Order: sequence, then structure tokens, then C-alpha cells
Amino acid sequence: MNLENYQLEGDSLPILTYPEPVLSKVALPVSKFDKDLELLVKNMLYTMYHAPGVGLAAPQIGESIRLFVLDVNYDREEFTNAAGKEEYRLSGFNPMVFINPVITGTSGATTFEEGCLSVPGVYEEVKRHKTIHVKYQDLKGNFHELEADDMLSICIQHENDHLDGIVFIERLSNLKKNFYKKKIAKEKGR
Ligand code: NI
Repeated sequence: MNLENYQLEGDSLPILTYPEPVLSKVALPVSKFDKDLELLVKNMLYTMYHAPGVGLAAPQIGESIRLFVLDVNYDREEFTNAAGKEEYRLSGFNPMVFINPVITGTSGATTFEEGCLSVPGVYEEVKRHKTIHVKYQDLKGNFHELEADDMLSICIQHENDHLDGIVFIERLSNLKKNFYKKKIAKEKGR
């Protein structure tokens, strides 16, 4: 798969929602950089873009491995289709794939109103590091390093949390966290 000239293709995978147990598990490192991994990433990107979302971690589609995809810089244009239904027209893709990421440095602090495809309908301010340094592998297993700031930094931290079994509501105050946990449990009838 060529990320430089990305074409929107693949299959949409079901996105699991909190409190699905896999979302609270620490994911295992990716060890095989093969065609299956490439297919998984292709389908994860397709799923993320169609959600639509800016990031998707493997545990969210039930794969407990250390991998996430993101794109903080694509265009979404909402329009009404011939059947009168709201749809998105997507373009200008800048997909990124992070495999076995490790945040090796942080500085500063920032807050941003976050949401998560696995916690639909919840948007809350979360405190994060402003700048991070991250090491990761690509689809071929090659190592890379990146200094990320602002939106990209926040997004990487949010997705990296998923690999450690942390959903963003866990980052809220105890009061808010308990409120949402109860609310979600009630909605799910558990
Ligand atoms: Ni999320």
C-alpha cells in the first residue's frame, strides 16, 4: 500500500465501543510486517475515514496489537445525497501509520476537547503534553522518529493510550469519569 498516493479503498470494520473488554487491555507488539498487516491497515484507514474520525487504534476494531492510524489533515465536506441523506465527501488525505510506537519525550501542557469513536457522543477537555517525541515503525518494519506538536501530538497521545488499554474518559476527573461510566452502563443496560 502506498501512503504517499493514498486511495480510499478497503472494507469498513465494526468499531467496538466502551466498555468492550479489549479496549481495556494492554496490546501486544506487532512482530510480523506482512501482507496481512498491510490489509489490516488498509481496512483501518477506510474505517477511520468513513466513521469519520481522525484516528483509529487496532484495539478499537478488536485487534489487541500496538498499531494505530491517523489523519489530522483531510477535508470532509458534508452534503445531502440524492436520497436526501447526509453524507461526507472526503479528499486531501494524509494518512499516517504508527506501529509499535513509543513516546520517548514530552514537554509542555495543553488541553483539547476530545472525542472517541469508541465512546460515541462524549466530548470532554483532556489535559495532554503539548509536544512529544515518538519512535515507531512503518508497515515495512523500518524505524522512524517524529517530533509532534498541537493536534498531531494530542491525537498520537489519545491513540497511544488505546494501546495501553486507556480510553480517554479514564483521563477525566473522578467525578466526570464515574458520571460517564454510569451513563454508558445505563445506556447499554448492563
Ligand atoms: Ni479513541
